[in-house]
Amino acid sequence: MLIRHAPDLTEAHVTPKEAYVDRRRFLAGAGAAAGAMLLAGSAKATALSGAKSPFSTDEKQTSRDDVTSYNNFYEFGTDKADPAAYAGKLTTTPWSIKVDGLVNKPATYALDDFVKPHHLEERIYRHRCVEAWSMVVPWLGFSLAEVIKRAEPQGSAKYVAFETLVRPKEMPGQAAYFPALQWPYVEGLRLDEALNPLAILAVGLYGETLPNQNGAPLRLVVPWKYGFKGIKSIVRISLVEKQPPTSWNLENANEYGFYSNVNPQVDHPRWSQASERRIGAGLLAGRQPTLMFNGYSEQVASMYSGMDLKANY
Ligand code: MTE
Repeated sequence: MLIRHAPDLTEAHVTPKEAYVDRRRFLAGAGAAAGAMLLAGSAKATALSGAKSPFSTDEKQTSRDDVTSYNNFYEFGTDKADPAAYAGKLTTTPWSIKVDGLVNKPATYALDDFVKPHHLEERIYRHRCVEAWSMVVPWLGFSLAEVIKRAEPQGSAKYVAFETLVRPKEMPGQAAYFPALQWPYVEGLRLDEALNPLAILAVGLYGETLPNQNGAPLRLVVPWKYGFKGIKSIVRISLVEKQPPTSWNLENANEYGFYSNVNPQVDHPRWSQASERRIGAGLLAGRQPTLMFNGYSEQVASMYSGMDLKANY
């Protein structure tokens, strides 16, 4: 992505390795319903399990080490290693999520209450970054559509806006003198996109609660779009009438559009999107072709029929 300024990070921000390793220890006691086991952003990783999904790919999963150490989370710095190094400091307990805007049932939920009504599913999805690398990630999450329906959107609601936490004391990238982005990180979907069965809110990956660097305790996963649409550490979900601002579009509208659907035929102004590098595949593997809508055309193409996908990149 375009990085204009180096973040103001020092060695002092580094999380002690023991703290990070401790987080990854499994706790006993997984169940089927999400709420019972989530333990609201517990400081330690908690084991989770979810029902299998027909939407999962059987492609080889990217190793847990790669998924949790090669990240984009600019609140913690712009280097791929920064989120794993610094995100351990983020306090995720307590955590609340506000659902507001054009809904009949606005509410602010504690994380456990937000998650409790839902059943977790494992969704093994391809994950394609706009930077032309990709992974296959076994997420654990639940349908975003159910969350939206629970809030009872009003007729005038046309888009869903999402917002990440602002906490510069724990997020060194937000405290940087030259921030890489404006904060909070914001994202958005058209309402029909948000209601698509592929769109989930993830609370875990690889059978445990999300590590902070992957967006604990709650992040969006929309696998037919470039990875930056998958906003992390969500604190607010608003139903709105007009297309909401989105972080990378604010940063450079010419390079990052609102839709950002994976499309091998529409190149980024500075590089091709026709192929991708699968993280962990090894040097000899070479690049692989990028698929339209990241291979999810069957589920999503009808939402864009008649739309000029070059103009609406
Ligand atoms: N969400 C927030 N709040 N801040 C970020 O910098 N980076 C995005 C997205 N969500 C980002 C974010 C980008 S560019 C990508 S590719 C994915 O998160 C990366 O997710 P991963 O680190 O779990 O692979």
